[in-house]
Amino acid sequence: LIFLLRSWLCYWILHSLELLEEPVPTSIASDVCKFLARCQSPTGGFAGGPGQAAHLAPTYAAVNALCIIGTQEAYNVIDREKLLSFLFSVKQPDGSFVMHGGGEVDVRSAYCAASVASLTNIMTPTLFQDTPTWIVSCQNWEGGLGGVPGLEAHGGYTFCGTAAMVILGKEHMLDLKTLLRWVASRQMRFEGGFQGRCNKLVDGCYSFWQAGLLPLLHRALFKEGDSTLSLQKWMFEQQALQEYILLCCQNTAGGLLDKPGKSRDFYHTCYCLSGLSVAQHFGNMDLHHELIVGQEENRLAPSHPVYNICPEKVAQAIQHFHQLSVPVPAQKEGSSEETIDTGSDIFPFC
Ligand code: FPP
Ligand code: ZN
Repeated sequence: LIFLLRSWLCYWILHSLELLEEPVPTSIASDVCKFLARCQSPTGGFAGGPGQAAHLAPTYAAVNALCIIGTQEAYNVIDREKLLSFLFSVKQPDGSFVMHGGGEVDVRSAYCAASVASLTNIMTPTLFQDTPTWIVSCQNWEGGLGGVPGLEAHGGYTFCGTAAMVILGKEHMLDLKTLLRWVASRQMRFEGGFQGRCNKLVDGCYSFWQAGLLPLLHRALFKEGDSTLSLQKWMFEQQALQEYILLCCQNTAGGLLDKPGKSRDFYHTCYCLSGLSVAQHFGNMDLHHELIVGQEENRLAPSHPVYNICPEKVAQAIQHFHQLSVPVPAQKEGSSEETIDTGSDIFPFC
């Protein structure tokens, strides 16, 4: 994991800071851009550190980090043409993606690929051909998704699969009702936080991977015309989750953690804060309802439930990259492949 970590550290820390509304000094932001540029592979995509091989997870982290910085310098780091060719190089004939050349397949990769492709406007129809069908095959009898077809449902994979389906506009292909039942049952009735899978322990990071599914499901069911949906609350106990994060997941010296007794780290800091933000903010724009447990200074900025960066940064990146044309994939040179327009209004509700 350590080899994949340095790009992730940039994202976890920058996203934590944006949720806390703590500005990043210009010179530090520029240093991060220069560092991430060194993590970019000559053949496209990003690695966990300079000189390492490209991998979809740090590619997702690096693109998110650069979009949070949101300057021309940051956007210019991303070689979109090579990124597209990296994405094609990890695409499998059945619609899935391997995490890196010669690596393992699991549903995280579909989310990482869909996230970076949609943010940077390099989506082409063949890139995600058969991907929705493959993702649906990861949903099992429990209602959640496993990493690959046949595996136990887990919050991390369920978030990735569902968010990828939202990006691809195919969330209706999932069984949304059994998914809702599965995720709602993962909130622990004593602790108030979420477990990652049935019969396992609560962990602060699932405050995002699990609770973050509720905005996605709310929007998907809203699109289907479900008139029983609340216009004020997500379908989990927002107050209980905030209490678990604030009271059980804080290190008194700063930083957040899995559960009491564990040490703090940047991953748990990022995802505990992200989950706290989801639990504090319902909806967006005209339909926005806040529930802040404790003092007003506990309030975090809202986060985009698909990309998990602040919504203004998503809008700004989409606006920037949509001025640029979609590169023609190298192996498709000369073909007249049409582009998918991901538009700027793909998430009008959440
Ligand atoms: C189980 O760990 C955890 C996994 C098998 C993977 C979880 C996946 C994610 C958190 C998603 C990652 C997302 C991206 C975008 C790369 P465990 O057995 O230690 O924990 P558990 O007891 O809580 O299940
Ligand atoms: Zn955790």
